[in-house]
Amino acid sequence: MSFVVRHVVPWIKVALAQILGLACLFLARDYLAGNALASLLLVGVAASLAGRILGLSIYWIPLQLLLPFALVYSDVIPAWAYLTGFVLCALVFWNSATGQVPLYLTNTSTWAAIKALASQSGARTFIDLGSGSGGGVVFLAKANPELDVTGVETAPLVYLLSRLRVAILARKNAKIRYKSIWQEDLGRYDLVYCFLSPVPMSEMYRKARKEMRPGALFVSNSFAVPEHEPDRIVDVSDARKTRLLIWKM
Ligand SMILES: C[S@@+](CC[C@H](N)C(=O)[O-])C[C@H]1O[C@@H](n2cnc3c(N)ncnc32)[C@H](O)[C@@H]1O
Repeated sequence: MSFVVRHVVPWIKVALAQILGLACLFLARDYLAGNALASLLLVGVAASLAGRILGLSIYWIPLQLLLPFALVYSDVIPAWAYLTGFVLCALVFWNSATGQVPLYLTNTSTWAAIKALASQSGARTFIDLGSGSGGGVVFLAKANPELDVTGVETAPLVYLLSRLRVAILARKNAKIRYKSIWQEDLGRYDLVYCFLSPVPMSEMYRKARKEMRPGALFVSNSFAVPEHEPDRIVDVSDARKTRLLIWKM
């Protein structure tokens, strides 16, 4: 996917969606009788729906809802507040807009199931592709000192905090690197774990098949690979009914 398609097209869709939201406001103007709050809400909700129809992921909805308020009340809210909010969001949700992989975290029950899987399979090397706040790297490194645990992450603030977390814990068998999941050679890992989104799964599976050693395990939390059934599924007994989809290379 080219840079333009990934980075520019979503914003064009946001602009189109907001214009459609404004069109809804125009059609409903007689019913709203000048109610500013209801009008802005209508634009935001209509733009959110239009965005979804145009193919934007659900992660754009908060922006679509806030945008009309931010534009109208721009003189009340100081500019630095927008800038700070924007910069912080960008540093955390760095990969949401471009790679369509947002930040949400694997829970402890699931990490425990992954630890069991690593022990059963005799894995000596593990990677969390997109390691988020580093919770999994820390959990596994503590739980199994023999396991060499790596995380790669490119959301800057999330990366820095996870590096700090690992440094405080000072585990020799844990490391987090600032590196794209697409740049990492998967050939040195016995167990590769990812919790991404449906979007990159086909490409990541192709990469895993190409690079991973025979017998190594590729594990996806929740997200399937189209046309490739997993060899095994582990159902985690947690509230969200997590499923670990496992392929043996
Ligand atoms: C759903 S979160 C999972 C976090 C962690 N693995 C967990 O399970 O708790 C996905 C993470 O992948 C990161 N990510 C997405 N695309 C990436 C890329 N191309 N390179 C590195 N990290 C990426 C995101 O920033 C996010 O932190």
